Amino acid sequence: METGDDIKKKQRFSQIMNTPESDVMKVELHPISEEEDLGFFACMTIDRPDKLNALNADVMASLKAVCAWMEASEEVRVLVVTGAQPNQPPEGKRAKPHAFVAGADITEFAGAGSEVIRKRFTNNAVEALWNLNKPTIAMVDGFALGGGCEVACSCDIRIASDRSTFGTPEINLGLIPGYGATQRLERLVGYGKAHEMIMTGDMVPAEEARRIGLVNHVVAPEDLQETVFAMAKRIGSKSSHALRVGKETVRAALDEGLTDGVEIEAIAFAGLFDSEDKEIGVQAFINRTTPEWQHE
Ligand code: COA
Repeated sequence: METGDDIKKKQRFSQIMNTPESDVMKVELHPISEEEDLGFFACMTIDRPDKLNALNADVMASLKAVCAWMEASEEVRVLVVTGAQPNQPPEGKRAKPHAFVAGADITEFAGAGSEVIRKRFTNNAVEALWNLNKPTIAMVDGFALGGGCEVACSCDIRIASDRSTFGTPEINLGLIPGYGATQRLERLVGYGKAHEMIMTGDMVPAEEARRIGLVNHVVAPEDLQETVFAMAKRIGSKSSHALRVGKETVRAALDEGLTDGVEIEAIAFAGLFDSEDKEIGVQAFINRTTPEWQHE
């Protein structure tokens, strides 16, 4: 006989399992822990490897759908964002290079005027990713150019393979970045370096990207997934409530001055003292047990 709890659990599970996949987007769920029921992290793969995972209208619509699904799926605690690996090339053809995302789909720019582009870029999917209230990690293996660099900059953390390259080459098309890099790249690498990247369009190799603060970690390609997934699990095992408050509060550093930002932190920090998870975490420390978060 099914209890109310069983039914609720089933409903929650079917919502999670109903991942918003499409022809250009794969979404895989992975457990946070093999031993305990701690929920999942999702790995979203932009899947147009023959076009170096360029962001066309279908990808952007799918990315928005994934963000909405992530917001609604309580049990999915962290999002990993990546690009598909190259396909095996046809006989006699050269293999396509590894890419996270090689930018907006340039073919969709041909003939487009400001009206069309303003509509397409207002409330776009990169903003939805940026505004997601859960932790996000970009797993970058290969080219992260233009919109690809911007998707990475819209994640909270970036981890790249040592064969990756970052850049904002829009200047070579007579353009500037349109998915937020003039703002978010500037915050990550600083005023001078952002100008250099945007004005020259030059590519920045992974190790230099790490040195200038664009990337958190650089690892060998064969270690990339393990490194990223381990971090997703580590973050996913924390209180989702505390993570959400932490993300919102760090964001305040971008929009507010130091004095106001510290004030916002003080309010957020004190607010956490009314949360269930704070008492669970503190008691677990005192009793030397593992906290069982309620995520509230
Ligand atoms: N939009 C649409 N298609 C793209 C693309 C983009 N941003 N980037 C790559 N592609 C396509 C290519 O047209 C090519 O398609 P095809 O095989 O059907 O002709 C395929 O992806 C492979 O790219 P290719 O240029 O052949 O690979 P490469 O190894 O010679 O060069 C890059 C790799 C990344 C240097 C090159 O593809 C490039 O400069 N891409 C555009 C980067 C850019 O300007 N991004 C910002 C856009 S706003």
